[in-house]
Amino acid sequence: MRQAVIEGGFGIERVVWREVEDPAPGPGQVLVRVRATSLNYRDYLVAKGQYNPKMPLPRVPLSDGAGEVVALGAGVSNWAVGDRVAGIFMQTWLDGQYRDLYGKSALGGAIDGMLAELVVLDAHGLVAIPDHLSFAEAATLPCAAVTAWNALFESGDVKPGDTVLVQGSGGVSVFALQFAKAAGARVIATSSQPAKMERLKAMGADWVLNYKEEPEWGKVIAKAGGVDHVVEVGGIGSLEQSIVAVRAGGQVSVIGVLTGVAGSLNIAPILHKHLHVQGIYVGSRAMFLNLSRALSQNQIRPVIDSVFSGVQIQEALRHMEGAGHFGKIVVEV
Ligand SMILES: NC(=O)c1ccc[n+]([C@@H]2O[C@H](COP(=O)([O-])OP(=O)(O)OC[C@H]3O[C@@H](n4cnc5c(N)ncnc54)[C@H](OP(=O)(O)O)[C@@H]3O)[C@@H](O)[C@H]2O)c1
Repeated sequence: MRQAVIEGGFGIERVVWREVEDPAPGPGQVLVRVRATSLNYRDYLVAKGQYNPKMPLPRVPLSDGAGEVVALGAGVSNWAVGDRVAGIFMQTWLDGQYRDLYGKSALGGAIDGMLAELVVLDAHGLVAIPDHLSFAEAATLPCAAVTAWNALFESGDVKPGDTVLVQGSGGVSVFALQFAKAAGARVIATSSQPAKMERLKAMGADWVLNYKEEPEWGKVIAKAGGVDHVVEVGGIGSLEQSIVAVRAGGQVSVIGVLTGVAGSLNIAPILHKHLHVQGIYVGSRAMFLNLSRALSQNQIRPVIDSVFSGVQIQEALRHMEGAGHFGKIVVEV
């Protein structure tokens, strides 16, 4: 079978395909034929060597993939050949609160990922995918959708009538917009591109601001009443505006690092406004199951920006680098 690897050093040009022996599932494991994968900003950072410069290579990239079960290892009773499945981001985080050791089982980072024709996963490291979704659609869920879901409804407590702020038009933010609207919330979005601002409005965003033209967007939003919850993906360059934008007692889910992780920050509003600032690192298998139920119930479909073939993985990563995408970038296998 063929698998993609980051080999011989980091860089988009170092992500290449190679031929290897077909893997076989051991006891308690499942063999999955991968049909589609999707890109997250993390996969771009991993390929560039910016996520973990000490990551041992070669490494199979990408955390997200969906496909069908083709063989079962000894003792596996919760799956059948032909089941449509997606891997979970952290193979060992099944339920409950996050623990340090779960991070050591993250696909496409700590361990090999999903960009391969065949992968072996633990029988608990999978979920069934919603019937109404294609493999390409389901492949967008494990990282971005679970993260948005966790921020809003598991670690967060967004209710109908709340106002949620989402930032930009990437994978996490577009899912957050869809989920928040489905839950009856009002959504304020930011984007740097007028055409994308129109698309966000068409998807139901109630108010869209251009964060480049209005760098103090947090103040503008606060003046208009503030928000209850921020899905913060911008990182250090946007966190200060986010904590200005949120109302007293509101929540800020710290998720993304698009502008970097380190810098100066005025923390005074966090205490003066009794803010709840929480870190989010994707989510558990149980959260993925809750998300899937909500997607089915509401017939929500992921927004796919573009579909590349496996051999175009480098083009797909460069497309993400260009930041022209809206929603998710899929790579079929
Ligand atoms: N903690 C976690 O578990 C977790 C999980 C998933 C993702 N993440 C992180 O969350 C971030 C988003 O991930 P993603 O995969 O959704 O990325 P993505 O699809 O690549 O999103 C890129 C988009 O973000 C917007 N953006 C860029 N800089 C921005 C800024 N300063 N302020 C507001 N928006 C900005 C741009 O939208 P416009 O073109 O509309 O301006 C850009 O197109 C990344 O940092 C990623 O590493 C973290």
